Amino acid sequence: MYLLIPAAGSGRRMGSSRNKLLLTLLDQPLIAWTLLAADASESIDWIGIILQPQDRADLQTIVSNLSLSKPVHFIQGGATRQDSVYNGLQSLPPMAKHVLIHDGARCLATPNLFDRCAEAILHCQGLIAAVPVKDTIKVVDQKTHLITSTPDRSQLWAAQTPQGFEVERLQQCHAEGRRQGWEVTDDAALFEQCQLPVQIVEGEETNLKVTTPVDLAIAEFILRQRLA
Ligand code: C5P
Repeated sequence: MYLLIPAAGSGRRMGSSRNKLLLTLLDQPLIAWTLLAADASESIDWIGIILQPQDRADLQTIVSNLSLSKPVHFIQGGATRQDSVYNGLQSLPPMAKHVLIHDGARCLATPNLFDRCAEAILHCQGLIAAVPVKDTIKVVDQKTHLITSTPDRSQLWAAQTPQGFEVERLQQCHAEGRRQGWEVTDDAALFEQCQLPVQIVEGEETNLKVTTPVDLAIAEFILRQRLA
């Protein structure tokens, strides 16, 4: 199974001047944990890491220090996550039929989650790992800050990655998204806009996306528990 890891973001919401994926989490750069989990997955056999040019040297050093068992390819990222994944899809070998996309910032996803998604994508066109929402979610008017509605929580799931797709269909959806000017924060949204079905795979509560300093502290706590 082919895996693309978008890792070309910044550290803005982390309050960091460098890419948050290069920050230290326990004794490793954050992205190293993501790569180790992907490498330990039985189903992944090709890893493409999508990066910004200024991070290339650091990421190459991290990858070579990890001595992974699978080949890692370095792919130039874009201005947004959507652009980065678009570039990643262009860089897949022509024989790639299915792909998993997993945010570098979700460094706690387990090898088992990769394996479950890799198995499931062989039987559907698109999927995402997701978990039921625990909070009550409000839709809020951006200007007035007044609540406009409260969606029924039993229908709400929090999207995670990995997200898996048939490569050709996802490429078509990305191309359509560019033509139409759709701006999305995950790949499933492009699939949905194209009226294609996206399946839910039960995700992991610990599979958080490290975005702010609090997330980093929680991730460290979870990793310590796992390693104890
Ligand atoms: O910023 P956020 O954490 O939501 O980004 C999700 C993932 O997309 C991260 O792993 C980040 O490195 C990646 N990304 C990217 N290219 C961008 C912006 C974000 O690959 N231009």
